[in-house]
Amino acid sequence: MKSLPLATRTELIEPSPTLAMGARAAAMRAEGIDVISMAQGEPDFNTPQPICEAAKDALDRGVTKYTASSGLPQLKEAIVEKLRRENRIQAETNQIVVSCGAKHSMYNALMSLISPGDEVILIAPYWMTYREQIKLAGGVPVVVSTDASSGFKPDLDAIRAAISARTRAILINSPSNPTGAMLDRAMLKGIAALTLRHGLWIISDEIYEHLTYGPAHESIAALGQEIAAQTVTITGCSKSYAMTGWRIGFACAPAPVARAMADIQDQVTSNPTSFAQVGAITALSLPLDTVRAMRDEFQQRRDLMVRKLRAIPGLVVPEPEGAFYVFAEVKSYLGGALKSDLELSQRLLQEAHVATMPGSVFDGPEHLRLSYTASQADLERGLDRIHQFLTSLSE
Ligand SMILES: Cc1ncc(COP(=O)(O)O)c(C=O)c1O
Repeated sequence: MKSLPLATRTELIEPSPTLAMGARAAAMRAEGIDVISMAQGEPDFNTPQPICEAAKDALDRGVTKYTASSGLPQLKEAIVEKLRRENRIQAETNQIVVSCGAKHSMYNALMSLISPGDEVILIAPYWMTYREQIKLAGGVPVVVSTDASSGFKPDLDAIRAAISARTRAILINSPSNPTGAMLDRAMLKGIAALTLRHGLWIISDEIYEHLTYGPAHESIAALGQEIAAQTVTITGCSKSYAMTGWRIGFACAPAPVARAMADIQDQVTSNPTSFAQVGAITALSLPLDTVRAMRDEFQQRRDLMVRKLRAIPGLVVPEPEGAFYVFAEVKSYLGGALKSDLELSQRLLQEAHVATMPGSVFDGPEHLRLSYTASQADLERGLDRIHQFLTSLSE
């Protein structure tokens, strides 16, 4: 039967390979295969108990109705306080929009700021959702590349050169998915200066803000009132509090932008889940020790992963400064029997039973992204399998 056409918009979008890889690994596990996953982008920890208790209590108290679309007033107040305390950002509650995850906050921001044909500068390798959401908003992603030799740090001149008359925004993500690279204060100042000079928006995705293993995270909006007036800061509970399934993200934006984002959200989803918002209030009130315990475990895993990957001949493995991914260059294994990082990732899953993400997904070909969200024991076993597989290729 001939099917009727879908909207042309659907042709723009590429499905998430992260989810596809997760599904393939799950199917192999269901067949009884011992698959070790280094593919997923979520902490393996449970949400801390006090957060769960707060949400259960909210259900018992009947917090089961619609809330204000942009979020519960008490949650917005907790976010304002969190931004002041942790990010050195001064904001009012009318600048806060709570959404169904940081991904949703990003979508609201792009839909509010980008008109058809507007260019958005993206620093590659990048989380592929940015590219897809920019296209959905009618925008054009303009990519500035970085590589392993510089630890995936962008070159300010390259960002400057990418700015055109159509540029509307620069999207930054520190710590980064997929590279774990961070933008230091000097780089943030450089980007801020460009933004001010050219009258651009900054969209700053800071979802991994608490997962840093060296210098602490800094928010670009904390550099001053001028830059804050051109910045949308996006973060949330998913990664810091192991709350990926709760779907609570939030944005802090100049009031007119926040209003536009809230209006868009109001017509699309209304509010994020009422009792999940109550859980988020508790999350933001917990002492940071809870987050630090998870961070410390991630740091041990990062060290283990970097050490074991660097023991594999030919890999280039920059040490990530944050998030929970290593982005390793695998170029020296490609070009012969293995044509691409995609093929390498597929064969690692089929033959070594380790799930990884091909770098191409993040506009970083000839790399693999490996998450250290599995236990240290599983990481040891998985990395041994990768080592064995790669060295068997060159035998
Ligand atoms: C860079 C980045 N931003 C945002 C998100 C999404 O966060 P949330 O689960 O809160 O939507 C992710 C998830 O993988 C991410 O890697």
